[in-house]
Formats: sequence, structure tokens, C-alpha cells
Amino acid sequence: MIGQASSALRRGCFITFEGPDGSGKTTQIARLAERLKTRGIPVVTTREPGGSPGADAIRHIVLSGAAEGLGVETEALLFAAARYDHIRTVIAPALERGAFVLCDRFLDSTRAYQGSAPGLDRAFLEELEAATTAEAQPDLTVILDLPTEISLRRMAERSRTDSKDRFEKDGFAVHEARREAFLAIAAAEPDRCVVIEAVGTLDDVSGRIERAVLVRLGDEIDRAARAGTEATV
Ligand code: TYD
Repeated sequence: MIGQASSALRRGCFITFEGPDGSGKTTQIARLAERLKTRGIPVVTTREPGGSPGADAIRHIVLSGAAEGLGVETEALLFAAARYDHIRTVIAPALERGAFVLCDRFLDSTRAYQGSAPGLDRAFLEELEAATTAEAQPDLTVILDLPTEISLRRMAERSRTDSKDRFEKDGFAVHEARREAFLAIAAAEPDRCVVIEAVGTLDDVSGRIERAVLVRLGDEIDRAARAGTEATV
């Protein structure tokens, strides 16, 4: 269990962004971060797998496909190990300093990607989550949703310049199952999750996100803006 980040000490807000490949999370996180910073709120943006030197070392192993042959349980363990280090060294300290932490993928990606792989025992993932993320539960999870056809098209466009990682190479049915898994998580945890339609212009999508964040975390945003820029991040 992670000791340093007891919720009593926690002063910041933890917002995770989830969704299929090509849903535009990275761009939208940068936009929200700018909006919060203009209000004087300290913001830390980070991503998974990775986000800390230890987790970045694991990132290469999982995304290159080097761990694929070891089985989905081992892949899930590697994502969880990366997450544990990321929480301990980056996320929990930033929350304790009062920052808003915006994280590109978190535990729902393990649920949707590893969890939708055939044969993986749900209880195994639950135990992993309990052991690694109990002290860093998201205050809000923004799930960017888009039709799988569009997601695949965006990935194909991107792959002209960037090579596809191990998960992007999967076919339509696998991507569709992941999309459904994210929507099922949102339906099961409506207090934590909000689904945002990720089609339209960048401004359309960022407007939807901003409105949803204000509805869910407006009080925390006002409080953090009043607290000013004293926290160093
Ligand atoms: P990344 O290059 O960060 O892509 P993206 O911009 O889509 O987030 O690759 C992350 C890949 O790793 C992505 O295909 C999802 C997958 N992934 C998992 O399978 N499980 C996890 O727990 C996480 C965090 C990511």
C-alpha cells in the first residue's frame, strides 16, 4: 500500500483522461491545463504508461510488445508496477502540494485493455488495483468516446509518421471491445466518470470537457484559484 498520500493530506484534484486510441486525449489535456493555469491553479500533466523515470523504463517493455509473449497477466502486472511508481513519485506528491494532476490514461486503461483480453480473471485486476492505486483514486475521469471506425482512421493517419505500438496494431473487434469496456466503466461509476463525445472540432470537444469539469469540480477549482499560485509545481 502506498503510505505517503493519505487522503487526509491530499489537497489537490486528480483528473484522469481515458478512451480509445486516437480519441485526442493528449491535445485536450493540454488545453484544459492551460485553462486551469490561467486561473492561477498549479497543474501537473502526466501520462501512462510512464510519467516517472521508473515507469518510463517499463513503458518501453509494454509498448514495444516485448512482454506480449509473457501473457496478459504479466502485462497487467507491468502496467500496475509502472503505475505504482508513478503514483508514489509524481502523482501523490503533486496532490499533496495542492496541484491539479491531469493524467493521460490511468487504471481504467488497464481495465479496458488488459481486462477485455480473453481469459483474464477480473479478480486478478481488482487485487492489483487494490494493491497499487488505493491512495490515488481519481476525483474525476473524463472518458473520450468516439466510433471505432474514426479511432482506427486517426490511428492509420498517425502511423504514417509514428509507428504503431503493440495495442494499436489490434483489429476492429478488439478496439470495439475496449470502447465498450470504457462505456461500461462509466455506466458503473457515474459519480466518478463523465463520457465526452470526442468528435467535432477541437474547440467543440474542449468546450464539452470544460463544462463537464466545471459542473463536477467547480467548487474545487474556485477554492484552488483563490488559494492562488503559492504552490510550486
Ligand atoms: P500511448 O503511446 O501513450 O498512446 P495513447 O496516446 O493512445 O495514450 O500508448 C499507450 C498504449 O498502452 C495504448 O494503446 C493503451 C495501452 N495501455 C494499456 O493497455 N494498459 C494500460 O494500463 C495503459 C495505461 C495503457
